[in-house]
Amino acid sequence: MRTYGRSDKLKSVQYAVRGPVAEKANQMEQQGIEVLKLNIGNPAPFGFRAPQNIVDEMKANIEDNEGYSHSKGLPDTRQAIYEYALKKNLPNVNVDEIFTGNGASELITMTLNALLNPGDEVLVPAPDYPLWTGSVTLAGGTPVHYLCDEKSDWMPDIEDIKSKINSNTVGIVVINPNNPTGAIYPDEVLQQIADLATEHGLILFSDEIYDRILMDGYEHKSLATFAPDAFTLTFGGLSKSHMMCGFRIGWLILCGKRDHVKDYIAGLTVLASMRLCSNVPAQTVVRHCLEDKSELEAMLLPGGRLYEQRKVVMEGIKDIAGMSVVYPHGAFYCFPKLDERFNIHDDQQFALDMLEQAHVLVTHGTGFNWPNPDHFRIVMLPDTETLAAAMKNIGSFLDGYRQK
Ligand SMILES: Cc1ncc(COP(=O)(O)O)c(C=O)c1O
Repeated sequence: MRTYGRSDKLKSVQYAVRGPVAEKANQMEQQGIEVLKLNIGNPAPFGFRAPQNIVDEMKANIEDNEGYSHSKGLPDTRQAIYEYALKKNLPNVNVDEIFTGNGASELITMTLNALLNPGDEVLVPAPDYPLWTGSVTLAGGTPVHYLCDEKSDWMPDIEDIKSKINSNTVGIVVINPNNPTGAIYPDEVLQQIADLATEHGLILFSDEIYDRILMDGYEHKSLATFAPDAFTLTFGGLSKSHMMCGFRIGWLILCGKRDHVKDYIAGLTVLASMRLCSNVPAQTVVRHCLEDKSELEAMLLPGGRLYEQRKVVMEGIKDIAGMSVVYPHGAFYCFPKLDERFNIHDDQQFALDMLEQAHVLVTHGTGFNWPNPDHFRIVMLPDTETLAAAMKNIGSFLDGYRQK
């Protein structure tokens, strides 16, 4: 019998967040073992709910929104995103070049598919949110990883970016606030990346899905505001700011210089048309969400859930010998480091060992395209008790752990 395998395009594509370790956790749960899951940025299972008034509004709108919308989105939804873009000072934006998507994810794959040819290189951060590396590969391009440097609080290493730009480079991906490190980039860093893109005529892909998840008085500035003379694609959405990732609503805003990318934009429009449109009922609440203060804001202040959960994780890590972390100020992740005493050479095996022995599920660092097997990501969404229990289990597991 003829057998069928995955396509060659998929051969070097991975998404470890839902990979074999997570699969093993599911099996353990089916056997009745309780697993503390710190692996996935999905707020709903941890008791975070979308704001009730927004859910009610969507319910009320459902019957009038059964059909396809314009492939880029409903006019008023795009107008609301346009107004948000103006508030964030994005340069040279127009309503016709705003696209809604079934999450930012769909738009990330679409924008790369519309652009890349074999041989094209895209600079992607290491560590990254692995959809970026996977999507560049799937679109036929080559991801080239630039270092985000733990020694400088996970800031992109500008010299490393510079050294990797060549005649095949077409774009730079920036994730700010960052998943998995929780870093928020200051003006100087954004300006330097913007200047490199402008100087070399590169396209900027700015993933800003966490732009409203900021703590400790940090403000978010969009990369595009530093690059009026480059072409920037800015990605956003409601998945995280309004805890509604299951409703699948995100957007893409094109801005900056366009003359040199007209055909690319036409290609993107073809792809947007082919997928017909994004979830229409979810589009109808975008205006309300963008105009309202996010309910999340209170959770990010002292006493708020996300703030206190981070505190538990940070204090837990401080008490574990051999583990350290750069303090995260944005999103809801941290990316701790494990020192040499653990002798880790296979970090997926490390995550499996931790799952089996401590019943804690995390995602190993190489799953985020981090080059060394010495990190893992913690999702800080569970409540403080769960996180405290998980940190205690991780501490006991690591005490004496050494990979053979
Ligand atoms: C950095 C980053 N970008 C994009 C996404 C996908 O967001 P969406 O739910 O809008 O597809 C995620 C989801 O975790 C993310 O962490």
